[in-house]
Amino acid sequence: MSKPPLSRAGLGASTRLVHAGRDPFEQHGFVNTPIYRGSTVLYPNTDDFLHRRAKYTYGTQGTPTTNSLQTAWTELAGAAGTVLTPSGLAAVTIGLLACLKAGDHLLVVDSVYRPTRIFCDGVLKRFGVETTYYDPAVGAGIGDLMRPNTAAILTEAPGSQTFEMQDVPAIADAAHARGACVLMDNTWATPLFFPPHERGVDICIEAGTKYLSGGSDLLLGLTSANARWWPKLQATFSAFAMCAGPEDVFLGLRGLRTMALRLREHEKQALEMARWFQGRPEVAEVLHPALPDHPGHAIWQRDFSGSSGLFSIVLKPASQAAVAAMVDGLQLFGIGASWGGFESLVLPFDAATYRTATRYAPAGPSLRFHIGLEDLDDLKADLEDGFERLRATV
Ligand SMILES: Cc1ncc(COP(=O)(O)O)c(C=O)c1O
Repeated sequence: MSKPPLSRAGLGASTRLVHAGRDPFEQHGFVNTPIYRGSTVLYPNTDDFLHRRAKYTYGTQGTPTTNSLQTAWTELAGAAGTVLTPSGLAAVTIGLLACLKAGDHLLVVDSVYRPTRIFCDGVLKRFGVETTYYDPAVGAGIGDLMRPNTAAILTEAPGSQTFEMQDVPAIADAAHARGACVLMDNTWATPLFFPPHERGVDICIEAGTKYLSGGSDLLLGLTSANARWWPKLQATFSAFAMCAGPEDVFLGLRGLRTMALRLREHEKQALEMARWFQGRPEVAEVLHPALPDHPGHAIWQRDFSGSSGLFSIVLKPASQAAVAAMVDGLQLFGIGASWGGFESLVLPFDAATYRTATRYAPAGPSLRFHIGLEDLDDLKADLEDGFERLRATV
């Protein structure tokens, strides 16, 4: 039983998300690729085994379930291939390990996701890779920071917690002129809002834990590469066998089908809340690149086609006790780190404590919000009560 394959030409992103990476007639007509669990793969004879002549060779190297998500993500990201890892951080580390060796120099944006920084300063340093952090506003000036041994540049836009934009195409041009690999953590925008490989990114990272899941119920990473870097990424992944679990991959596939819908809703909700925060007397600044007065807005408008549910605010000067009174009493915002799920979240942060290339000097305490799918009137009422507690506490 089969049908002719669907022609992909001219299909929109939402249509692709629905159809990519699945063939119901390979699954007895069932809509979804099921969960294949397995370590060993049997071969029909010794000759096929000795030459590993099979589509699937061993559990760590892929199953029809992982193949389904890899194929879909490769299509969505405009990549040559994708590997799936057990977390978003593992997707970052496998990407870096694919393009670096002892003696190399690595440039990393100062606003990078903090655990990535810890990996660079710890493991990479131990293996002989030197990391230099750079100002997110560097743009084409990145060329001045490159050394003869600069092998890779890791970008992330907008920056984790602080939301600075980066001129990724300009950085990619400068990097490619000297043969360096450009990596990007694209978790915030996803390929739906920023097509990474089209913009010059060689290796792209997505923490599927966030918007691919949408449910705060799994850990998953996706690392995609263009044709130049795919063989290295694939070989590195294969050597580490850092594979994602079958149930998590299945949940990732389930999330993929509705990701466009959810992301557009998170975008709408977050933008309304960001504008609402701008009108609050307790707020000094809203850090959201889709707002016209954000310093990175022009880059966002040029390179991105949407924004997601995560942004930060800077409060006017307030004591730690006042911020704690505000945040701890919120009923609808959980205090927690991983975002992208259906629920709203808040966390206090101070990027000044770990930055090394730039100074983070906000007017007051900083809070990061993820806006979920709740009714906005309820979220605003919860926050209004929070602001009252903030004002009442010294
Ligand atoms: C931008 C970014 N990249 C990567 C990660 C890592 O994802 P995971 O939690 O799946 O390791 C996170 C997690 O918060 C993140 O915010």
